[in-house]
Amino acid sequence: MKLLLNLLLSVIVSTAFAQNKGILHTDQGAIKIDRHIYGHFSEHLGRCIYGGFYVGEANTKIPHTAGVRNDVVDALKKLKVPNLRWPGGCFADTYHWKDGVGPKAKRPTIVNTWWGGVTEDNSFGTHDFLNMCELIGAEPYLAANVGSGTVQELIDWVQYVNFAGESPMSKWRRENGRDKPWNVKYWGVGNETWGCGGNMKPEYYANIYRQYATFMTGWSNDSKIFRIASGANSADYNWTEVLMRDIPLNMLEGVALHHYSVIDWSNKGSSTSFTEKQYFQTMQRALFMDELIQRHSTIMDKYDPKKKVALVVDEWGGWYDVEPNTNPGFLYQQNTMRDAVLAGATLNIFHKHSERVRMANLAQTVNVLQAVVLTEEEKMILTPTYHVMEMYNVHQDATLLPLDITTGSYTMDNEKLPAISASASKNTAGVHISLVNVDAKTSQEVTIELRGGKFTSVTGRILTSGNVQDFNSFDKPEQIKPVAFKGASLKDNVLKVVLPKHSVVVLGIK
Ligand code: AHR
Repeated sequence: MKLLLNLLLSVIVSTAFAQNKGILHTDQGAIKIDRHIYGHFSEHLGRCIYGGFYVGEANTKIPHTAGVRNDVVDALKKLKVPNLRWPGGCFADTYHWKDGVGPKAKRPTIVNTWWGGVTEDNSFGTHDFLNMCELIGAEPYLAANVGSGTVQELIDWVQYVNFAGESPMSKWRRENGRDKPWNVKYWGVGNETWGCGGNMKPEYYANIYRQYATFMTGWSNDSKIFRIASGANSADYNWTEVLMRDIPLNMLEGVALHHYSVIDWSNKGSSTSFTEKQYFQTMQRALFMDELIQRHSTIMDKYDPKKKVALVVDEWGGWYDVEPNTNPGFLYQQNTMRDAVLAGATLNIFHKHSERVRMANLAQTVNVLQAVVLTEEEKMILTPTYHVMEMYNVHQDATLLPLDITTGSYTMDNEKLPAISASASKNTAGVHISLVNVDAKTSQEVTIELRGGKFTSVTGRILTSGNVQDFNSFDKPEQIKPVAFKGASLKDNVLKVVLPKHSVVVLGIK
């Protein structure tokens, strides 16, 4: 009985003192939150391209435009996807773009050795992808094959998609039905060259990068070419050090970083059936992004104090075991409130580092890893992660506001995490604050003093659900969706917010 009382008391005390306080300087802020940190990633992997984005033009009841699903395009338009990375991932360093242009019936097949060993018929190629980006309103980000390609192949690709004048490649593009160039700005020079992209050492890759980067210019309005070096695997700080040291700044616009929130690569756990401990561990890995960016940025600052080169987190997200009875090589997983919290907290971290992190890509858009959209034949559902990306899109290209916040802790087995993740920005529509309660057990009260203006109204939306394991299924597609938030009040420029456990809230204040 005494034990029970003590337990009750400790719960009451911890709830009562779950105090989180902050000051928001609404009249300050000099840095833009680049909309490109809201980018996505589409790889020839599992059902991401085939069945996800693309259903082909023949024998399908699914409404499409030139084979691309209309429902997916509409959903991504609403998300305001700023850029889309393609064709990989590991697939990119096996991909020869010339296989994917010209009459579809004549295209060669290849085997997708990285992802399930399936036959790739190349029916979705460069034209299909770039035209799809135009439909979505996203800028394309092409990942070039460095691992098994050639410099000439890349020169030809840049020339094919970007050259306006007369040249062998622009002639071929026109013969294949496209007159005007697409003017692709973002180019990845290899992917994970420390691993699936060629198992290179950083010194070797830095040299290779210099060689490839040299020949990429001259085919378009050069000031538009944005070359992204294949970056570090999580905490491999030496990789960034060597790249920044060995590649001249005038040859480099971005350096990548990949970090997945995985509990244990040999035992990743189910995407839907997990314990609170596993949830906590996933959040530890997700919040580690802050330290990672800080440390990679410190290295970049040494060689690039003016922050000319962007840190491009072009693969991030949660990675779990594949859904039962699905191909292990297809990386199909469900998406719960855990992923919504992960996404909200990660985006807040990117905002915080806006000066250096100017582009990022969630892995991956449809049917793979932390997808925003899942499809099953003609059905399509939006995941909790989709809703977070949509709620947060008010921050795209807005001015980051300094928000000093002191947060309580979310504890588990003597380990602690900050309970609250937050960020704020302003644009012509007003000030927006995004708040995440990482705590899976306890609601949190947050008090924010608003400085630098007079504010009288607050509105908002919340994404949450009874259990952190909840998800949207094809039977219950709207189990989790944003609703109006009633838990915020504003008086005398002091904002008080009560955030339910594992919730994501975006507020607008005026
Ligand atoms: O996103 C899945 C894979 O993860 C990508 O192909 C690769 O770059 C990374 O290892």
